[in-house]
Amino acid sequence: MKILVTGGTGYIGSHTVVELQTAGFEVIIVDNLSNSKAEISDAIGKITGTKPVLEVFDLTDKGKTADFFRRHNDIKGIIHFAAKKAVGESVEKPLLYYRNNLESLINVLEGMIENNIPNFVFSSSCTVYGQPDELPVSESAPIKKAESPYGNTKQISEDIIADTVKVTDLKAIALRYFNPIGAHESAIIGELPPGIPDNLLPYITQTALGIREKLRVFGDDYNTPDGTAIRDYIHVVDLAEAHVVAIQRMIEGKIKIDFEVFNLGTGNGYSVMEVIESFEKVTGLKLNYEIVGRRKGDVEQVWADPSFSNKELGWKAGKGLDEMVASAWKWEKAFREDPALKDGETDIELI
Ligand code: UFG
Repeated sequence: MKILVTGGTGYIGSHTVVELQTAGFEVIIVDNLSNSKAEISDAIGKITGTKPVLEVFDLTDKGKTADFFRRHNDIKGIIHFAAKKAVGESVEKPLLYYRNNLESLINVLEGMIENNIPNFVFSSSCTVYGQPDELPVSESAPIKKAESPYGNTKQISEDIIADTVKVTDLKAIALRYFNPIGAHESAIIGELPPGIPDNLLPYITQTALGIREKLRVFGDDYNTPDGTAIRDYIHVVDLAEAHVVAIQRMIEGKIKIDFEVFNLGTGNGYSVMEVIESFEKVTGLKLNYEIVGRRKGDVEQVWADPSFSNKELGWKAGKGLDEMVASAWKWEKAFREDPALKDGETDIELI
C-alpha cells in the first residue's frame, strides 16, 4: 500500500517514513530539499533495509504536482509535512510563508481530489492554541489569534482542509504537535537545524559540544514553579508512530468524522530548567547557560491533554524526558562524525 510523504526527508518526516516502512507500507517521498538532503533517503534505507523513492520538486509548482499525481494515482494516503517552520523567519518573510505553506497544501489537495485519493494527514501544531486559558489543553480549546505568520499558516491550513472535506470525498486528520525532540535510536537520522538553532534541544546539544558558547534561557520570571517556561516535549519516534496509526485509521475506514483533530503530546509539562537538569543528568556534563530576558512571542506554559488521542487512536507517547534528551545527544554526536550527512555543511534544516 503506497503512501506519499511530503517533506519526508525532514526531521519528523524521515522518522515517520521509517515507521511507515516498518509497518509494511510502501513510501514515496516528495521533497524540494530546501532544508534537507537527498542522503536522508539513503539513511532511512540503512535503518529499514528499503530506500524510499524520493522525487525532488517543489509542491508549490502546480504543474509538477499535478503531473506527479497523474503518475502515482495508486497512492492510498498522504502525510503532508512539507512546509516552512521557522517562527522568526516567518515574521520577517510572511509572504514566503503564506505562499509556500498554503500553495503547496492547495496543490496537494487538488491532486488528491482529481485522482480520488481520499486519505490526508496534516502536520499541525499546538501553536494554534496560543497561551491556552486552561491546562492541559484539549482539542476543543479555542483557537487563539496566531502569534506569527507561521502559526497562521497552520490555522489557515486547518480551515482550508475543513472547508474542502465538506464538499469532497476527502477525509483528513490534523495532528497538532507539541514540542518534538530526540532522534531515532540508531542515531542515523535526527534533527539538523540550519545555522544557529531556534529550538531548545539542538541549542543545548550544540552548546555541550562547544559549537555554541552558552545557552540563553529565555526568562525566569514566568508564573511557573521555577520561573522558566513549560512545554510538552514529545519524542519524535512517538510522534512518528502516531502518523502510522492515523493513516491506518483512515485506510481502515475507522475515521468518525470527515476531519478529525488530535493532540500529539505526552501530557507532561517540563520547564526549561528541568530540560537542562535532565541533560546534565543523562550526559554527566555541566551545561554553560545564562538567564536572559523573555523571547518575544513565547507562551508561558502549554502542555497537552492527550486523552482523546490516547483513547481514539489507541496511541500513547511512551518515552520520558531523559530518554528523549539522551537520544538527542547521541544523534548530535553521531551526526558530527558522519561525513555523508556533514559534508562540510551543517547549514541545513530538516522540517
Ligand atoms: N528556549 C530557551 N533558549 C533557547 C531556545 C529555547 O530558553 O535557546 C526556551 C523557549 O523560550 C521555550 C522553550 O525553550 O520556553 C522551548 O522553545 P523551542 O524554541 O524549542 O520551542 P517553542 O515551544 O518555542 O516552539 C515550538 C516549535 C514551533 C511551534 C511551537 C508551538 O518550534 O514550530 O512549538 O508552540 F510553533
